[in-house]
Amino acid sequence: MPDQRSIAIQFAHDHQDRFLEELKTLLAIPSISTAAENREDIQAAATYIANHLRATGMEHITIYPTNGHPIVYADYLKAGRNKPTVLIYGHYDVQPVDPIDLWQTPPFLPTVRDNNLYARGASDMKGQVMASIDAIDAIVHTDVLPVNVKFLLEGEEEIGSPNLDAFISEHKALLACDLALNPDGGMIAANIPTIIYTLRGLAYFELRVYGPAHDLHSGVFGGVVHNPAQALCELIAGMHDAYGHITLPGFYDHVLPITPEDHLELARLPIDEPYYLAQTGAPAIWGEAGYTPAECAGARPTLEINGLLSGFTAPGSKTVIPAWAMAKISMRLVPHQDANEVHQQLVQYLEEHSPKTIRWELTQMTGGPACSTDRDSPGVQALSRGLEAVWGIPPVFKREGGSIPVVASMQQLLKADSIVTGFGLPDDNIHAPNEHLHLPTWQRGIDALIHFFYNLAS
Ligand code: BES
Ligand code: MN
Repeated sequence: MPDQRSIAIQFAHDHQDRFLEELKTLLAIPSISTAAENREDIQAAATYIANHLRATGMEHITIYPTNGHPIVYADYLKAGRNKPTVLIYGHYDVQPVDPIDLWQTPPFLPTVRDNNLYARGASDMKGQVMASIDAIDAIVHTDVLPVNVKFLLEGEEEIGSPNLDAFISEHKALLACDLALNPDGGMIAANIPTIIYTLRGLAYFELRVYGPAHDLHSGVFGGVVHNPAQALCELIAGMHDAYGHITLPGFYDHVLPITPEDHLELARLPIDEPYYLAQTGAPAIWGEAGYTPAECAGARPTLEINGLLSGFTAPGSKTVIPAWAMAKISMRLVPHQDANEVHQQLVQYLEEHSPKTIRWELTQMTGGPACSTDRDSPGVQALSRGLEAVWGIPPVFKREGGSIPVVASMQQLLKADSIVTGFGLPDDNIHAPNEHLHLPTWQRGIDALIHFFYNLAS
């Protein structure tokens, strides 16, 4: 006699085509959260998910309006009070599609090529959202769901979740849970199931540098006016020293050293120089002196220039001194760093280093702290055994360089630890042209989540 979980997994296999079609339907909706012209699409994506949750048998489905994009809630609480309640987090918004010319097929025309499903959001993270719902779909169609589940699906993750913390604070009872499942992470490789146990935080800024009152002829005034583009570059260049250390005053004050145990553990991960060269296509790797690539990307803070804008950038030439220059600058933070403190450090750096020839303005944008989750919790064990059952090897535990601020919010506001995982791969091109989802890995992910829910109950 096959057991209930095998029956559910068989159901998932038998309904693979339907699961794929439903994912494609969601992916066809251009729910770009940052673009004002996509407001209706965001609404349509929320509605599609709400209807889909209803079709799956979930209850109390509610689309909560926020000051921005809506939050979709649903639950299914039939396992009983003595069974754990899992809060499943996801986001149904996606990144913009530019540069659109580089897409081989249109970003919102989901297309399967070579076992991969190409579309914006396929990997980050509509595929992960649907995998979570599909695992539950398979169980509720074949058995009684052995744990209680709640869904919290937001439409603003890719713009920094500006309304999520307020929503969580105002709905603590609704969202009360024993643990959260956050499938917004990813895997190291298709054959290496991965659980993420630390995430870096983020502090994001826009820096504007102003010089002359208006653009100037660079021949007539070049040599007597400090070019704002140059001044901005000088400021930015000074933010790292020759060893790749960040020079903001006090930036490393609260950063804990990497312990010998951490060092050994990170050294075991197959993410080394050749890995990063292959993943990135960069001519050589770069980083803070004294640390391995895995340490630099997972356990050390960084400062990145995310964008630069100034002067004449159209085809052709124009001899001009621009009146202003702008940079988007962000720091990835490690535990004990604070985005507001980093803000003060950046202000102090600018006060100490900016020349009298320019004026600057700094705006603090989205952010959130780093966090770590308990690697030995029953939830992590349940997922770990589920991943092992499907992949045949235990998962690796990874320090993730990316940020998922809701993990810290749930710890603070709901006292709930998140299990951070996901079935996206490093070469899925998330946030980039030709984003895709490796379908065999995605399907294994659904099986692993079915195991997870059963393991958690027992
Ligand atoms: N899913 C990603 C974060 C991620 C990427 C986790 C790769 C694990 C592997 C998430 O959607 C994301 O991009 N987050 C932003 C956060 C920001 C907008 C506050 C990030 O990390 O830049
Ligand atoms: Mn994501």
